[in-house]
Amino acid sequence: MLDTRKKTAAALRSARWFAADDLRSFGHRSRMMQLGYAEEEFMGKPMIGILNTWSELNACHGHFPERVRDVKRGVAQAGGFAVEMPSLSVDETFTKPTSMLYRNMLAMEVEETIRSHPLDGVVLMGGCDKTTPGLVMGALTAGAPMIFLPAGPMLRGHYAGRVLGSGSDAWKFWDERRAGNITREEWLGIQGGIARSVGTCMTMGTASTMTAITEAMGLTLPNASSIPAADSGHQRMASACGRRIVEMVWEDLTPDRIVTDAAVRNAAIVAMATGCSTNAVVHLIAMARRAGVDLSLDDLDALGRVTPLLANVRPSGKDYLMEDFFYAGGLRALMKRIEGRLDTSAVTVTGGTLAEDLDGAKVYDDDVIRPLSNPVYHEGSLAVLRGNLCPDGAVIKPAACDPKYHVHEGPALVFDSYPEMKKAVEDETLEVTADHVLVLRNAGPQGGPGMPEWGMLPLPRRLVKEGHRDMLRISDARMSGTSYGACVLHVAPESFVGGPLALLRTGDTVRIDLPNRRLDMLVDAAELERRRAAWVAPEPRYQRGYGYMFQRHVGQANEGCDFDYLARSFGKVADEPEI
Ligand code: FES
Ligand code: MG
Repeated sequence: MLDTRKKTAAALRSARWFAADDLRSFGHRSRMMQLGYAEEEFMGKPMIGILNTWSELNACHGHFPERVRDVKRGVAQAGGFAVEMPSLSVDETFTKPTSMLYRNMLAMEVEETIRSHPLDGVVLMGGCDKTTPGLVMGALTAGAPMIFLPAGPMLRGHYAGRVLGSGSDAWKFWDERRAGNITREEWLGIQGGIARSVGTCMTMGTASTMTAITEAMGLTLPNASSIPAADSGHQRMASACGRRIVEMVWEDLTPDRIVTDAAVRNAAIVAMATGCSTNAVVHLIAMARRAGVDLSLDDLDALGRVTPLLANVRPSGKDYLMEDFFYAGGLRALMKRIEGRLDTSAVTVTGGTLAEDLDGAKVYDDDVIRPLSNPVYHEGSLAVLRGNLCPDGAVIKPAACDPKYHVHEGPALVFDSYPEMKKAVEDETLEVTADHVLVLRNAGPQGGPGMPEWGMLPLPRRLVKEGHRDMLRISDARMSGTSYGACVLHVAPESFVGGPLALLRTGDTVRIDLPNRRLDMLVDAAELERRRAAWVAPEPRYQRGYGYMFQRHVGQANEGCDFDYLARSFGKVADEPEI
């Protein structure tokens, strides 16, 4: 059990801004009064920043203005003082070329917002894909007590008597529409029914994966990541976060005491058991590194080999969605089921251990959260490949692809840009068979730029019409957590910086051997050397601005795509600011 150090009011960080009888503190106090607050409302109390990634273009966070009120209520009940601080919204749907370009920007904003303001602790409000890692990465570096409030998944989608899952069903029905099997009226019905409440995507996509990881790391209250956004339990969770963060400040329960090696390992195991998004790999590595935990692709592959997939939630699972997962007991019940594999001595934001948090948790539906004796898939949801196409690794979701592509050999069909590929696959005269290996390059961290979610490369229309629904695809892109198929992703190093994917040519034979974790082009070494000598580096994507900085400092996928200068190993974190 944790030693609950007690802080005095004089030792609060915010006291540096407000307590002294000097001119600076006079200025700070008078400006608080300008904001309408009397001294007794904020003096000597933990000042809690509510870092809110809300915007009118973030559909997943539409309920955040109300939840801020709930958090504030909780903070006040526990004797704290709450202030809402806007943070970059990084919505998944509208942010182009890809939200991933801005994850690190959010992380920087969060770190600097906390450091530069009189905050004693923070509640992080996020959930839509990149907002979770962005908020957590920044707050981990800043180091103040923090608690994460997940947005919660939206309700199940619904149309004409059938249940619809975010993303996954959009891709699926789009292929049916391309094949001419769906009318425009049906398509519009799906459009209106697939996202029908506030909250994040309700498949086990990147959002639900990342909030599950954050909970397993100990950074949320128990089961917080599973409560649907529209459930009144979500409001109660928000006020509970407000109450708890005030106590955490008094206990000085800082994130370095929570996000340890054990916590990161727990998070990786839980990710595998939930059928996590491939994006989890990039973000989990980045988050771990911010906490000083060196997690590698090989560690993840090793955990993936021994962790069965238990959450029967689409797209890796067959049947259910996050709402069902919640009714079946939620993440807490899933973790209870694999308790023996977790280090339950890890401390969480509750101040207790994971073992205490899981005490009494139960699974209410064995088909949604499977027992270890009847998993959805015998291994975890991710596998890491290596070979002469991806010396620093690539990832694939074995459970989400047609098993006939687990071992496969076929001719490459290579495209250098997404528009070029998109045009070609719509051409019904394209020379392609289901044995071909569709390849997209220049889609990595620098090449994309930002590693867009293009990795579920569209099947050529010709194959779709012939009845095919899968083929082997390879890229240095990411793919949406709601995607599926035989898609090899995150090829590292990326082609744009001269990774060997840049040397592949249409017609070369590519071989995947998933049981042995290999991905190779069957081209002899001398020929590859000739191609390497003739390779010309492409022009950088940006001439100025944030993109210019991004391309100079972003790391490769296997390193988590953090900026080099934000890495913990880069240098000492700045001291507290002079007041
Ligand atoms: Fe926000 Fe999927 S678009 S979570
Ligand atoms: Mg997504």
